Amino acid sequence: RRRRRRREAEDERKRKAAAVVEEVERAFSTPTALLRGIADAMVEEMERGLRADLQAPLKMLISYVDNLPTGMEFRFRFGGNGNVGLFQIGYGALMDEHGLFYALDLGGTNFRVIRVQLGGREKRVVKQQYEEVSIPPHLMVGTSTELFDFIAAELEKFVRTEGEDFHLPDGKQRELGFTFSFPVHQTSISSGTLIKWTKGFCINGAVGEDVVAELSRAIERQGLDMKVTALVNDTVGTLAGGRYVDNDVVAAVILGTGTNAAYVEHANAIPKWNGLLPKSGNMVINMEWGNFRSDKLPLSEYDNALDFESLNPGEQVYEKMISGMYLGEIVRRILLKLAREASLFGDVVPPKLEQLFVLRTPDMSAMHHDTSHDLKHLGSKLKDILGVPDTSLEARYITLHVCDLVAERGARLAAAGIYGILKKLGKDKLPNDFSQQRTVVAMDGGLYEHYKKFSACLEATLTDLLGEEAASSVIVKLANDGSGIGAALLAASHSQYAEAA
Ligand code: GLC
Repeated sequence: RRRRRRREAEDERKRKAAAVVEEVERAFSTPTALLRGIADAMVEEMERGLRADLQAPLKMLISYVDNLPTGMEFRFRFGGNGNVGLFQIGYGALMDEHGLFYALDLGGTNFRVIRVQLGGREKRVVKQQYEEVSIPPHLMVGTSTELFDFIAAELEKFVRTEGEDFHLPDGKQRELGFTFSFPVHQTSISSGTLIKWTKGFCINGAVGEDVVAELSRAIERQGLDMKVTALVNDTVGTLAGGRYVDNDVVAAVILGTGTNAAYVEHANAIPKWNGLLPKSGNMVINMEWGNFRSDKLPLSEYDNALDFESLNPGEQVYEKMISGMYLGEIVRRILLKLAREASLFGDVVPPKLEQLFVLRTPDMSAMHHDTSHDLKHLGSKLKDILGVPDTSLEARYITLHVCDLVAERGARLAAAGIYGILKKLGKDKLPNDFSQQRTVVAMDGGLYEHYKKFSACLEATLTDLLGEEAASSVIVKLANDGSGIGAALLAASHSQYAEAA
């Protein structure tokens, strides 16, 4: 009889687990029709943000980058099969830049210092070097002087390793493009005040301050002679870097610790822009799409709880459903519920599972990509992370399924956002004019780069939303570290020594 009771209890537990899983499946489903609605809401919010609507969740920040290379293209048909040949001649700003430039990239879990030797139109990037340093977590929530001093010290060290392949003409000051991946109200290409922190950063007293002034003071404290000539968001840097090598880049998307997008807008379609109309007629807009919200977004109890307990409740709602900082944490919350209500990991809830952010997205990705038949890699990850010596096969399969649900929802929501931008640009249909047949979205960020199931799902969803025909002209292109190169290029084109255009 005891055995029967045990079996009944086990059946009951399995039923509970199945019920929770079903509830999660329902809450996390994103049918294509819903994604279309989200894309339309994105377009509406883009338009609102371009007006001076202070309530608009999308800030649609003006980047002061209005001189991307425009390029000249020649397309020709060859063969009898309609193949299109293409060659591009770049012209315009960014193409002619020469010399040594630095960039500094702050905004994820790591920060990077970069130097590039630019060789102009012919040679482009002659040589580049970079160094990556992870940011000690206490600096992300400390004081702004501490953070900027740390960065400037790393920069100073890096400058000291400059070899002879890099050449700074006599009497010239080194110049730097600063990629600062947070919402900034720009006052020029090389100045701007921080609107708020996002991702894991939360530093008192920095909001409202000019970040270039702070960095410049820290650079001076290091005794380094260097001038910041461009301040850019990572999306804007990626767009500039992407356009440098491909004229058809119209937008850039970051899927990393955080998520965001930038795109090229007609300056006369920006009602809140009251400066001069740029010569190019265009202006790059940093959408800050992480803060997108809409009643169409399928927020679950897990999202609401995560948001409530985060450093920035009520903000970056879309980002919290999509980006690398949060996906693992959403999975953790679902597993915790399964552990509590359906004893997924045995009779006691593993104490480590209660710890915020203990499950990082790279670990989630590793579990999700386990193809062994008994999910043994997933099992050993769970063991390492949660400290449970043994997991049942059932628990491992459920964990895999939860990773799938969470990653897939994030990827599909991100695809809806990209589809929204393409709609706003009128690039969601196959153009009649065959000379405009490519639309390229430059992509960067560790989530997209390393989480293969995520990127595959994003691409499949985008194809689904566009339809096969229109999708054939849209290319999502990984622009690895485009943002660093882009910032250096923008530093070059806004150099104090540059001839006025
Ligand atoms: C966050 C920041 C944004 C940045 C993005 C990706 O959303 O607010 O500025 O572009 O993360 O790094």
